[in-house]
Amino acid sequence: MIRMMTTQLRFDVLSLFPQTVEAFTQDSIVGKAIERGLIDVQSRDIRNWAKGKHREADDRPFGGGAGMVLKPEPLFEAIDEVSTPQSTVVYMAPDGEKFTSKLAKEFSQSEHLVLVSGHYEGIDQRVRDHLIHREVSIGDYVLTNGALAASVMIDAIVRHVPGVLGDDQSLIGESFEDRLLGCPQYTRPEEFRGFKVPEILLSGNHEAIARWRHEQRVEKTRRLRPDLETITNQ
Ligand code: ADE
Repeated sequence: MIRMMTTQLRFDVLSLFPQTVEAFTQDSIVGKAIERGLIDVQSRDIRNWAKGKHREADDRPFGGGAGMVLKPEPLFEAIDEVSTPQSTVVYMAPDGEKFTSKLAKEFSQSEHLVLVSGHYEGIDQRVRDHLIHREVSIGDYVLTNGALAASVMIDAIVRHVPGVLGDDQSLIGESFEDRLLGCPQYTRPEEFRGFKVPEILLSGNHEAIARWRHEQRVEKTRRLRPDLETITNQ
Protein backbone atom coordinates (compact mmCIF):
# COMPACT_ATOMS: atom_id res chain seq x y z
CA MET A 1 0.00 0.00 0.00
CA ILE A 2 1.33 3.45 -0.89
CA ARG A 3 0.90 5.83 2.01
CA MET A 4 0.45 9.45 0.87
CA MET A 5 2.55 11.95 2.79
CA THR A 6 1.39 15.51 3.18
CA THR A 7 3.82 18.33 3.72
CA GLN A 8 3.37 19.25 7.35
CA LEU A 9 5.73 22.17 7.62
CA ARG A 10 7.16 24.57 5.05
CA PHE A 11 10.17 26.84 5.51
CA ASP A 12 11.23 29.83 3.43
CA VAL A 13 14.65 31.10 4.40
CA LEU A 14 15.56 34.62 3.27
CA SER A 15 19.28 35.33 3.44
CA LEU A 16 22.34 36.55 1.56
CA PHE A 17 23.84 33.05 1.77
CA PRO A 18 21.26 30.70 0.22
CA GLN A 19 23.91 28.03 -0.46
CA THR A 20 24.49 27.61 3.28
CA VAL A 21 20.98 26.27 3.76
CA GLU A 22 20.99 24.33 0.48
CA ALA A 23 24.19 22.49 1.40
CA PHE A 24 22.70 21.37 4.69
CA THR A 25 19.28 20.36 3.32
CA GLN A 26 20.87 17.99 0.82
CA ASP A 27 22.08 15.67 3.55
CA SER A 28 20.93 13.55 6.40
CA ILE A 29 17.59 13.38 8.11
CA VAL A 30 16.47 16.81 6.89
CA GLY A 31 17.22 15.85 3.26
CA LYS A 32 15.27 12.60 3.65
CA ALA A 33 12.30 14.42 5.20
CA ILE A 34 12.23 16.75 2.16
CA GLU A 35 12.50 13.81 -0.24
CA ARG A 36 9.63 12.09 1.53
CA GLY A 37 7.53 15.26 1.27
CA LEU A 38 7.14 15.68 5.03
CA ILE A 39 8.70 19.14 5.01
CA ASP A 40 9.68 21.68 2.38
CA VAL A 41 12.64 24.08 2.62
CA GLN A 42 13.12 26.92 0.11
CA SER A 43 16.29 28.95 0.47
CA ARG A 44 16.02 32.34 -1.19
CA ASP A 45 18.53 35.08 -1.92
CA ILE A 46 17.37 38.47 -0.63
CA ARG A 47 19.24 40.04 -3.58
CA ASN A 48 16.53 38.65 -5.88
CA TRP A 49 14.30 41.41 -4.52
CA ALA A 50 16.99 44.14 -4.59
CA LYS A 51 16.77 46.82 -7.27
CA GLY A 52 19.47 48.47 -9.38
CA LYS A 53 22.33 47.31 -11.52
CA HIS A 54 24.27 45.85 -8.60
CA ARG A 55 21.29 44.51 -6.68
CA GLU A 56 22.59 46.01 -3.44
CA ALA A 57 20.68 44.54 -0.51
CA ASP A 58 22.56 46.46 2.20
CA ASP A 59 23.73 50.01 2.89
CA ARG A 60 25.62 52.07 5.49
CA PRO A 61 23.82 52.84 8.75
CA PHE A 62 22.24 56.30 9.20
CA GLY A 63 24.05 58.19 11.94
CA GLY A 64 27.34 56.52 11.06
CA GLY A 65 29.06 53.52 12.53
CA ALA A 66 30.68 50.37 11.33
CA GLY A 67 29.24 47.69 9.09
CA MET A 68 26.29 47.45 6.74
CA VAL A 69 22.56 47.16 7.38
CA LEU A 70 20.10 45.20 5.22
CA LYS A 71 17.81 47.64 3.41
CA PRO A 72 14.07 47.62 4.08
CA GLU A 73 12.75 47.52 0.47
CA PRO A 74 14.02 44.05 -0.61
CA LEU A 75 13.02 42.53 2.72
CA PHE A 76 9.51 44.01 2.68
CA GLU A 77 9.00 42.76 -0.88
CA ALA A 78 10.45 39.32 -0.18
CA ILE A 79 8.40 38.77 2.97
CA ASP A 80 5.23 40.05 1.23
CA GLU A 81 5.81 37.61 -1.61
CA VAL A 82 6.58 34.44 0.33
CA SER A 83 4.28 34.79 3.33
CA THR A 84 0.56 34.10 3.77
CA PRO A 85 -1.75 34.93 6.69
CA GLN A 86 -0.78 31.51 8.14
CA SER A 87 2.97 32.26 8.12
CA THR A 88 5.07 32.98 11.18
CA VAL A 89 7.87 35.37 10.25
CA VAL A 90 10.96 34.84 12.41
CA TYR A 91 14.03 37.07 12.47
CA MET A 92 17.27 35.31 13.43
CA ALA A 93 19.01 37.77 15.76
CA PRO A 94 21.57 37.54 18.56
CA ASP A 95 19.31 39.81 20.66
CA GLY A 96 16.21 37.65 20.18
CA GLU A 97 14.58 35.20 22.62
CA LYS A 98 16.74 32.14 23.29
CA PHE A 99 16.06 29.13 21.04
CA THR A 100 15.32 26.04 23.12
CA SER A 101 13.93 22.55 22.70
CA LYS A 102 10.56 23.95 23.89
CA LEU A 103 10.54 26.56 21.12
CA ALA A 104 11.61 23.92 18.56
CA LYS A 105 8.59 21.85 19.54
CA GLU A 106 6.28 24.87 19.38
CA PHE A 107 7.56 25.87 15.92
CA SER A 108 7.18 22.29 14.68
CA GLN A 109 3.39 22.75 14.96
CA SER A 110 3.48 25.68 12.51
CA GLU A 111 2.29 25.51 8.94
CA HIS A 112 4.82 27.89 7.42
CA LEU A 113 7.92 29.51 8.90
CA VAL A 114 9.66 32.39 7.13
CA LEU A 115 13.17 32.64 8.59
CA VAL A 116 14.83 36.00 7.93
CA SER A 117 18.61 35.88 8.32
CA GLY A 118 20.58 39.07 8.43
CA HIS A 119 24.30 39.63 8.47
CA TYR A 120 26.86 42.09 9.76
CA GLU A 121 25.05 44.81 11.71
CA GLY A 122 21.57 43.40 11.13
CA ILE A 123 18.50 44.67 9.31
CA ASP A 124 16.62 47.96 9.13
CA GLN A 125 14.57 48.31 12.32
CA ARG A 126 11.39 49.03 10.32
CA VAL A 127 11.38 45.43 9.12
CA ARG A 128 11.63 44.23 12.72
CA ASP A 129 8.91 46.64 13.85
CA HIS A 130 6.35 45.91 11.16
CA LEU A 131 6.86 42.45 9.62
CA ILE A 132 8.53 40.20 12.14
CA HIS A 133 6.42 38.07 14.52
CA ARG A 134 9.24 36.49 16.55
CA GLU A 135 12.94 37.22 17.04
CA VAL A 136 15.10 34.24 17.95
CA SER A 137 18.75 33.78 18.96
CA ILE A 138 20.53 30.43 18.86
CA GLY A 139 23.02 31.53 21.54
CA ASP A 140 24.98 34.37 23.07
CA TYR A 141 27.44 34.94 20.25
CA VAL A 142 27.30 36.79 16.94
CA LEU A 143 27.49 34.96 13.60
CA THR A 144 28.50 36.67 10.37
CA ASN A 145 26.12 34.38 8.46
CA GLY A 146 22.58 34.30 9.85
CA ALA A 147 21.72 31.43 7.46
CA LEU A 148 23.73 29.19 9.80
CA ALA A 149 21.36 30.09 12.63
CA ALA A 150 18.38 29.34 10.35
CA SER A 151 19.90 25.95 9.47
CA VAL A 152 20.37 25.09 13.15
CA MET A 153 16.76 26.00 13.88
CA ILE A 154 15.40 23.97 10.95
CA ASP A 155 17.37 20.93 12.05
CA ALA A 156 16.11 21.11 15.64
CA ILE A 157 12.50 21.84 14.60
CA VAL A 158 12.00 19.11 12.00
CA ARG A 159 12.99 16.38 14.46
CA HIS A 160 9.67 17.13 16.18
CA VAL A 161 7.60 16.77 12.99
CA PRO A 162 5.81 13.39 13.17
CA GLY A 163 7.43 10.78 10.90
CA VAL A 164 10.72 12.64 10.39
CA LEU A 165 12.72 10.51 12.83
CA GLY A 166 12.40 6.97 11.50
CA ASP A 167 11.75 5.60 14.93
CA ASP A 168 9.28 7.75 16.87
CA GLN A 169 10.96 6.65 20.08
CA SER A 170 14.13 8.54 19.20
CA LEU A 171 13.02 11.70 21.00
CA ILE A 172 12.36 9.84 24.23
CA GLY A 173 15.07 10.17 26.84
CA GLU A 174 17.25 12.55 24.88
CA SER A 175 18.69 15.74 26.32
CA PHE A 176 16.20 18.48 27.26
CA GLU A 177 13.14 16.24 26.98
CA ASP A 178 11.67 16.37 30.55
CA ARG A 179 14.20 19.13 31.36
CA LEU A 180 16.88 16.48 31.82
CA LEU A 181 20.09 15.85 29.93
CA GLY A 182 20.49 12.53 28.12
CA CYS A 183 22.05 9.42 29.70
CA PRO A 184 25.42 7.90 28.76
CA GLN A 185 25.21 5.46 25.82
CA TYR A 186 27.44 2.49 25.02
CA THR A 187 27.77 0.07 22.13
CA ARG A 188 30.00 -2.93 21.33
CA PRO A 189 32.60 -4.00 22.29
CA GLU A 190 31.79 -4.68 25.95
CA GLU A 191 35.40 -3.98 26.83
CA PHE A 192 37.76 -1.66 24.95
CA ARG A 193 41.34 -0.93 26.08
CA GLY A 194 40.31 -2.17 29.49
CA PHE A 195 37.33 0.24 29.72
CA LYS A 196 34.15 -1.69 30.52
CA VAL A 197 30.50 -0.99 29.76
CA PRO A 198 28.47 -0.63 33.01
CA GLU A 199 27.39 -4.11 34.14
CA ILE A 200 23.73 -3.12 34.46
CA LEU A 201 23.37 -2.50 30.70
CA LEU A 202 24.31 -6.12 30.00
CA SER A 203 21.89 -7.52 32.61
CA GLY A 204 18.82 -7.77 30.37
CA ASN A 205 16.76 -6.38 33.30
CA HIS A 206 14.80 -3.66 31.50
CA GLU A 207 13.28 -2.14 34.62
CA ALA A 208 16.64 -1.87 36.36
CA ILE A 209 18.19 -0.40 33.21
CA ALA A 210 15.42 2.23 32.91
CA ARG A 211 15.93 3.14 36.60
CA TRP A 212 19.72 3.40 36.15
CA ARG A 213 19.33 5.57 33.06
CA HIS A 214 16.94 7.93 34.84
CA GLU A 215 19.34 8.21 37.80
CA GLN A 216 22.20 8.98 35.42
CA ARG A 217 20.14 11.71 33.74
CA VAL A 218 19.22 13.32 37.08
CA GLU A 219 22.81 13.16 38.37
CA LYS A 220 24.26 14.58 35.15
CA THR A 221 21.71 17.39 34.99
CA ARG A 222 22.39 18.38 38.63
CA ARG A 223 26.12 18.38 37.99
CA LEU A 224 26.24 20.12 34.60
CA ARG A 225 23.01 22.07 34.21
CA PRO A 226 21.45 22.85 37.60
CA ASP A 227 19.58 25.70 35.85
CA LEU A 228 17.34 23.08 34.20
CA GLU A 229 15.97 22.19 37.70
CA THR A 230 12.32 21.14 38.28
CA ILE A 231 13.89 17.68 38.31
CA THR A 232 11.70 14.95 39.68
CA ASN A 233 12.88 11.73 41.18
CA GLN A 234 10.32 9.43 39.62
N1 ADE B 1 22.60 36.05 13.62
C1 ADE B 1 23.83 36.39 14.06
N2 ADE B 1 24.08 35.83 15.25
C2 ADE B 1 22.96 35.11 15.60
C3 ADE B 1 22.61 34.31 16.71
N3 ADE B 1 23.42 34.13 17.75
N4 ADE B 1 21.39 33.75 16.72
C4 ADE B 1 20.55 33.94 15.68
N5 ADE B 1 20.83 34.66 14.62
C5 ADE B 1 22.03 35.26 14.56
